[in-house]
Amino acid sequence: MNASEPTTLLIVDDNPTNIKVLFDFLKESGFRVLVAKDGESTLAKLEAVTPDLILLDVMMPGIDGFETCRRIKADPKHKDLPIIFMTALADTANKVKGLSLGAVDYITKPFQQEEILARIHLHLKLRDLTRELADKNAQLYELNTSLEQKVEERTAALENAQSQLILSEKMSSLGQLIAGIAHEINNPVGFISGNLSHASEFAQDLIHLVQLYQQYYPQPVPEIAEELEAIDLNYVIEDFPKLLNSMKEGTKRIHEISQSMRTFSRMDTDTKVFCNLHEGLDSTLLILKHRLKANQCRPAIEVIKEYGDLPEVECYPGQLNQVFMNLLANSIDALEESNVGRSFHEIQAKPNHIKIRTEVSANQQVVISIQDNGIGIGPEVQARIFSHSFTTKAVGKGTGLGLPIARQIVEDKHGGELRYYSAPGQGTEFVIVIPQTR
Ligand SMILES: Nc1ncnc2c1ncn2[C@@H]1O[C@H](COP(=O)(O)OP(=O)(O)OP(=O)(O)O)[C@@H](O)[C@H]1O
Ligand SMILES: [Mg+2]
Repeated sequence: MNASEPTTLLIVDDNPTNIKVLFDFLKESGFRVLVAKDGESTLAKLEAVTPDLILLDVMMPGIDGFETCRRIKADPKHKDLPIIFMTALADTANKVKGLSLGAVDYITKPFQQEEILARIHLHLKLRDLTRELADKNAQLYELNTSLEQKVEERTAALENAQSQLILSEKMSSLGQLIAGIAHEINNPVGFISGNLSHASEFAQDLIHLVQLYQQYYPQPVPEIAEELEAIDLNYVIEDFPKLLNSMKEGTKRIHEISQSMRTFSRMDTDTKVFCNLHEGLDSTLLILKHRLKANQCRPAIEVIKEYGDLPEVECYPGQLNQVFMNLLANSIDALEESNVGRSFHEIQAKPNHIKIRTEVSANQQVVISIQDNGIGIGPEVQARIFSHSFTTKAVGKGTGLGLPIARQIVEDKHGGELRYYSAPGQGTEFVIVIPQTR
């Protein structure tokens, strides 16, 4: 209601005398007063104007006051319009009926002017307060909704940040652990391989010395002859150098492993560097070797490398290793799941494999594809694989962070794209596309 407009009252009564009395008195009291003579004209009038309050007679020809009230209240536009019944009927049943139809009050004829005025003011005030309350409620509701929305947004952002943190922590502690182990291995390995060359020289010398003895003393005393027999000297002379060589091979291999572990854990953080992605892939495979090799349930997972001619790629190598690791680990999981219920021989007949292909595409982008012949991904799971914390794996086994993080690294950090192709039973191929910068 506009403050500058006078408050409008509508009087509905079929008795002209009643109307006259009320009209004059209310007008004098400062109201704008409208008049209707029966129910029908009241309803018609309400189509055009909305008064602030209605004084409604009960007994009228045509539709009576009760029915008029019911129809007014049935219109959502007027459901809050205060209606006060006027009647000579003072019995309780009628009052109750009127109030139950939505009237706010009741006044009985003959009218007491002060009483009418007091009741009108009271109900106008009540109506204003009700409106205010409704407004406040609506504001509160809005506030609450926007608050809830904000809380939801914050929670999502926090969860996101938290999972990023967990993963980067997981990765950096893994990186540190691996770098630490590589370092610890390097010292004793250096020590062994350094001494091995001396050991083989000494062995050669000793063997030579024994051979000289044999040459100059072909008839040894019985005790030595017995010993020569027992240790099978010829076999020792033949085998010892071979044995030392395989020890050298072994230390070389350990050295390579620790080298790969270092490559893997090279967590460059803030700047991109040009780097050989095949080295990253190989070192990641090495870290996962224990999961690839044969066990009692299945033969080894075959890794088929189809490496193309890749240039050095400007990237965060540690992060890309993380992507390779996440994708390869997923493939191994998918293969293991596809093995459930199959015997060793059945698996051997259709062996588990992971194919790693690299190439430069026609539009000069670097493409790395990691493809497995595991269980594949069904449509419902496909819709969710990149969602944070979505996993189909057992509690404690999967955190559901592998793919969202991989996508973030490929797409946000390298401006590339992470695609996949999969169908249940058909295996899965993930394709990393990285644009070249030079
Ligand atoms: N190569 C794949 N073959 C079949 N399903 C896959 C493959 N890669 C991912 N998925 C499905 O996508 C889901 C999400 O993978 P994601 O790497 O994000 O999480 P996770 O492997 O379950 O857990 P985490 O990697 O954090 O340990 C997996 O639970 C799995 O259902
Ligand atoms: Mg995973």
